[in-house]
Amino acid sequence: MTQPPDDGWEGGRLLIDLSAIAANYTQLQTFVGPATETGTAVKANAYGLGLAEIAPVLRDAGCRTFFVAHVAEGVALRPLLGNDCRIFVLHGPPPETSAAFLTYNLLPVLNSLPQLHEWQRLAHQHGRPLPAALQVDSGMSRFGLSESDVLALANQTNGLQGIEPVLVMSHLACSDTSDHPQNRTQLDNFLRLRALLPSAPASLSASSGIFLGPEWRFDLVRPGAALYGINPTPGQPNPMRSTIRLQARVIQTRHVPAGASVGYGATFTTKRSTDIALLGIGYGDGFPRRLGQRGFAVLPDRPDIKLPIIGRISMDSLAVDITDLAGQPIAPGVAFDLIGPHNPLDETAFLADTIGYELLTDLGSRYHRIHHSPRKG
Ligand SMILES: Cc1ncc(COP(=O)(O)O)c(C=O)c1O
Repeated sequence: MTQPPDDGWEGGRLLIDLSAIAANYTQLQTFVGPATETGTAVKANAYGLGLAEIAPVLRDAGCRTFFVAHVAEGVALRPLLGNDCRIFVLHGPPPETSAAFLTYNLLPVLNSLPQLHEWQRLAHQHGRPLPAALQVDSGMSRFGLSESDVLALANQTNGLQGIEPVLVMSHLACSDTSDHPQNRTQLDNFLRLRALLPSAPASLSASSGIFLGPEWRFDLVRPGAALYGINPTPGQPNPMRSTIRLQARVIQTRHVPAGASVGYGATFTTKRSTDIALLGIGYGDGFPRRLGQRGFAVLPDRPDIKLPIIGRISMDSLAVDITDLAGQPIAPGVAFDLIGPHNPLDETAFLADTIGYELLTDLGSRYHRIHHSPRKG
């Protein structure tokens, strides 16, 4: 990843490679082939990385169908895309706010009978059928019409009156474990429930589901994580490009003897004469406190050495043992990678007892954020 120019950042900076995100989109679309459309999940501010910058890039890469969780996210997204893209709101129409769907041309995902009735009420009010996605619960017990809901609708003549189904969808619970039996069970349930509903394009898979095989892909896939560089095939090499690099600058360095305690709670004591670099990011930036004594920093021009984070992580800083740099002078202002090519997102998340999704969406707004496109992709 090329380094953008230094622009006066202080504590931490988050480099977001837009061309890598575009390349990941193109890679997924090529992988699923022309019979399947690749939509994208851009909820939670595009997984914390910046909806305003990322949505237009995905659109330019060819994406025409976007998924957000909340109506407000859809409202923010619409002006970024223009009117020829579809925006589905995964949480569906909340009571009393359905009007925003029409104003901003948003499509609800109808997850329950009350949501379905809300949409029918709006259609009745406007005197025309209104488009929507129907979600069925194929076995995750999260959002979606239950089997008995679907059967009840199928047995009523006017059960879906006022609704123009443009998508029938469901969501997989275990797709990141490719041999999990639930993947097949959910596929079978989805096929059965879908057959009871009016014919419409179907969507079952997000990032990992895409890699389960063609049967799981249907007409539309909805990746989020893979676009942003999270490995959709855990346990196997990551087929996606990494998209972020998190760096922190040295505030000060110090030399301490063996036996010195480091950080809050005196939970770490040096075992040797130690050079320490204090970096200017901490949990107040969304960097997991859990990485105290677990995570690593890497000096970009010494990628061969993983430098351990020592002691507890503070709100605004953390300490790194840089003794293994063997006296290489480290001046205030020098930048270390906390997530980068040699301490990648998924690995760092694992060390923090979490998943790449949580680590990404937790990265707060305090970082100096740079969206850049070093490669055309
Ligand atoms: C319904 C739905 N579709 C798609 C996605 C995108 O999933 P992923 O980030 O695993 O690709 C999510 C994410 O949670 C989701 O809830």
